[in-house]
Amino acid sequence: MSEQTTEDGDGGGATIDALLAEHRTFPPPAWIKKEALVTGTFLYDEAARDDQGFWARQAGELLDWEREWDTICDWQLPYSRWFVGGTLNVAHNCVDRHVAAGRGDKVAIHFEGEPGDERTVTYAELLDEVQRFANALKDLGVQAGDRVNIYLPMIPEAAVAMLACARIGAAHSVVFGGFSSQALADRINDAEAKVLITADGGHRRGEVFPLKPAADEAVASTSTIEHVVVVRRGGNDVEMVDGRDHWYHELVAAAAPDCPAAAFDAEQLLFLLYTSGTTGKPKGIMHTSGGYLTQVAFTHKYVFDLHPETDVFWCTADVGWVTGHSYVVYGPLANGASIVMYEGVPNHPGNDRFWAIVEKYGVTIFYTAPTAIRTFMKWGAEEPAKHDLSSLRVIGTVGEPINPEAWMWYHVNIGGERCPIVDTWWQTETGAIMISPLPGATTTKPGSATFPLPGITAEVVDEAGAPVTVGGGYLTLTRPWPSMLRGIWGDPERYRETYWSRYPDRYFAGDGAKLDEDGYLWLLGRVDDVMNVSGHRISTTEVESALVSHPKVAEAAVVGASDAMTGQAIIAYVTLRGGADVPIGELREHVAKEIGSLAKPKTIYLTPDLPKTRSGKIMRRLLRDVAEGRNLGDTTTLADASVVDEIQRRAADTPAEG
Ligand code: WTA
Repeated sequence: MSEQTTEDGDGGGATIDALLAEHRTFPPPAWIKKEALVTGTFLYDEAARDDQGFWARQAGELLDWEREWDTICDWQLPYSRWFVGGTLNVAHNCVDRHVAAGRGDKVAIHFEGEPGDERTVTYAELLDEVQRFANALKDLGVQAGDRVNIYLPMIPEAAVAMLACARIGAAHSVVFGGFSSQALADRINDAEAKVLITADGGHRRGEVFPLKPAADEAVASTSTIEHVVVVRRGGNDVEMVDGRDHWYHELVAAAAPDCPAAAFDAEQLLFLLYTSGTTGKPKGIMHTSGGYLTQVAFTHKYVFDLHPETDVFWCTADVGWVTGHSYVVYGPLANGASIVMYEGVPNHPGNDRFWAIVEKYGVTIFYTAPTAIRTFMKWGAEEPAKHDLSSLRVIGTVGEPINPEAWMWYHVNIGGERCPIVDTWWQTETGAIMISPLPGATTTKPGSATFPLPGITAEVVDEAGAPVTVGGGYLTLTRPWPSMLRGIWGDPERYRETYWSRYPDRYFAGDGAKLDEDGYLWLLGRVDDVMNVSGHRISTTEVESALVSHPKVAEAAVVGASDAMTGQAIIAYVTLRGGADVPIGELREHVAKEIGSLAKPKTIYLTPDLPKTRSGKIMRRLLRDVAEGRNLGDTTTLADASVVDEIQRRAADTPAEG
């Protein structure tokens, strides 16, 4: 890595500076290419000639349709409809057809509970349970078009509940089990859900966390819920309200076994998923059926180079996030894969739990978040070294930019320097992976998500909307894609305003990005986080990556705090690798050496942890508040609020380094 001058976009408008230069490259390994689904450019070439025709071919090849569509895509900015006139059943595509094809005995879900209990669910068993539960929902009055809320731990019943809704044309709205009763109530009210599916409790960090009491509290402040279904998992005592509450196992046992999978319109609402963004009330992102399932099946197959007969796929995300929707449930099951589902935290009973699971189930494809990887770095390479990870073939990341050194750590310690890494960029709104390497076809660079997938057109533009060819700017998408959001539930104005107003004719993702001289895309984080230091627009991601490239650093969060001299000053919060110690001055000089003295943090605080959202993203807004001495606003979305107290204490104790 070297210092590099910054480059502006071609359009002359302001952009984000490009500071970090990463020159390591990793071509697809020969052993992967030998069996890979894609080794050349044919998919890219086909999609470039005719993207709609390309998606139509994928829809036809990857899914079963009851009726074929009349129109591939009806695009009336900002609304798209895909496979118009086509009908299908999503649950049939994820379950029934695999059983009908003779693969009923194949494992759909290897479930591992946190206490160590296991449950194996075959496709035939999944079909049976989905049908019975779909009938149970119908008996409770759920009809096509209704909304059903799901508030569950990571257990097979979460997938069953989602598929049962899909089977009868009801839309689900999954709320992460770690969210409060207030968050659940807000989402139930916004969606006007009729039924809530929850559990007594689940297992987390060696204890039972109760869910039902929070569900009860939420239901008390809603008016639309008619029935509550309760899965027994935690074994904790719960109160059941007569007539309203039902045990899941009793409903399933009493339900009729057959529930035909009637076909629904390709544009039938499949789910709402609420995303909070940085401000304002959560947005109910709308996803529909045919286009969504086409693109999640396509990306799951090609991005992970899926060989469904032999692969064991493990995506560590919770079903409460879009990653859990698209790559725990819909993508893998549509492709007839075997998945691993794990209920608990990565450090129970020991810091090697994930690696024990990889070894136990022979996981071949592993998909996780950079935040988890940085935590593993902190815990040390000896944890994965305790286990045989040689079953792994392809490993992936999603959720945040991955710092090049974290990428290298993942490559060496998890991938055994043998597995390709797919760094996948996408959003709740995009529904499916948009920018990513293909394991057998793309030469990767640590920290770059590389190129848009076939059928996807991304462009980096400057402030004025002019395309940037080399350098930093704002990530936009220029063509509709099948799994794009269909809107924000109940708020079309906010939909237009949030995604389609900054640049006419383009989807604005809200992320900064840069293109290097080889055309590789590098994500630079949310544009709200970009700092302005002495007139230079510097991305937090690049300074964080420079810090993480120091051998003693595990994780860093960088924010711009207002500064009389420079407009904003760079403040860094740094977590060291286990047991390490390092003088602050050395870290500042390291950043200067890596990316230039302009980006040298004014102040660095060492801290044992960083504030994260419950989905694992660093909360820079809070750190900005700390740095600027403001009272902290809402901390309820934090995974662990005590982290902020600790950081505030240290900020008060540590003399600023200037
Ligand atoms: C960020 C998660 C860099 C980005 C699927 C995006 C990433 C937001 C990457 C969406 C990546 C996701 N590299 N940044 N590979 N993947 N992001 O809605 O800022 O939880 O806009 O969806 O995460 O987060 P969401």
